[in-house]
Amino acid sequence: MEVYDAMRHEQLTYLGHSAFLITTLAGDILIDPFLSGNPSASIGPDNVHPNYILMTHGHSDHLGDTIGITRRTGATVIGPAELVTYLAGKGVSNVHPMHIGGNHVFPFGELFLTQALHGSSVTENGHFIYTGNPCGFVVKTGERTIYHAGDTGVFLNTELIGRLHPLDIALLPIGGNFTMGIDDALEAVKMLAPHAAIPMHYGTFPVIAVDPQLFRKKVESSTSARCPVLEPGQTF
Ligand code: NI
Ligand code: MN
Repeated sequence: MEVYDAMRHEQLTYLGHSAFLITTLAGDILIDPFLSGNPSASIGPDNVHPNYILMTHGHSDHLGDTIGITRRTGATVIGPAELVTYLAGKGVSNVHPMHIGGNHVFPFGELFLTQALHGSSVTENGHFIYTGNPCGFVVKTGERTIYHAGDTGVFLNTELIGRLHPLDIALLPIGGNFTMGIDDALEAVKMLAPHAAIPMHYGTFPVIAVDPQLFRKKVESSTSARCPVLEPGQTF
C-alpha cells in the first residue's frame, strides 16, 4: 500500500456536468457530485470514494449526491457556511464551513473560496431554502493549482483570481442560460491565463447545449491556453 501511494500521481477526472474528481497524495477531492439523475454522469454515486467533497452552491445539479456519499464514506463536506450548515442540519457530521475570500490548509493542500455571480438555494416541498452565496474554488495541491469557477457569469474580478493564483487548470462553465456562455468564458480565460482551460456545465440539458469544440477553437486561437474537451469519465 505504501508503495502504491508513493507511486500515485495527482489526477483530474471529469465526471460530467460540473463534477470533477481530483486524486491527490493526501486524499481524493470530489467537486459538485451531481451523479444520480445526471444524463451525462460517467459513474454512479456508489462508485466514488472521496475524502473531501467541495460544494459550490445548493442547486440540485451541484448538491447532487453529496448527502448520500458523505454518509457512506464519511467525507468532509466543504463549502459556503450557510450551505454547509444546512447540510449539518440534515445529519452530515463532517463539515468544514468557509466563505468567499477565505482560505484554509487541508492535508491535500490549500483551498480558497472565490466569488461567483449566481444564486444558491435548496428546494424542499416547493419552498426555497436560501443557502448563502455561491462560490468557486482554487485548489492548490502539491503538484497543481486548479480553479473550479462553479456556476457564474463572467466578472472582472476574475482577473484578480488569476493574479493571486497562477493557474495550471481553469474549469469554466460554457453552457449559457444559467452561467456564462462560450464568449464570456473566453474572456474569463484571458483574465485567468491558465495553462489549460477545460469546459464544463454544457450539454447536460437541451437549454445548455453548446459546442465545446467552438470554445476550444476560440481559446486556442486567441490565448496561449490549451483547451482539452473532456468526455465524462476522461482523466486529464
Ligand atoms: Ni446553479
Ligand atoms: Mn448549475
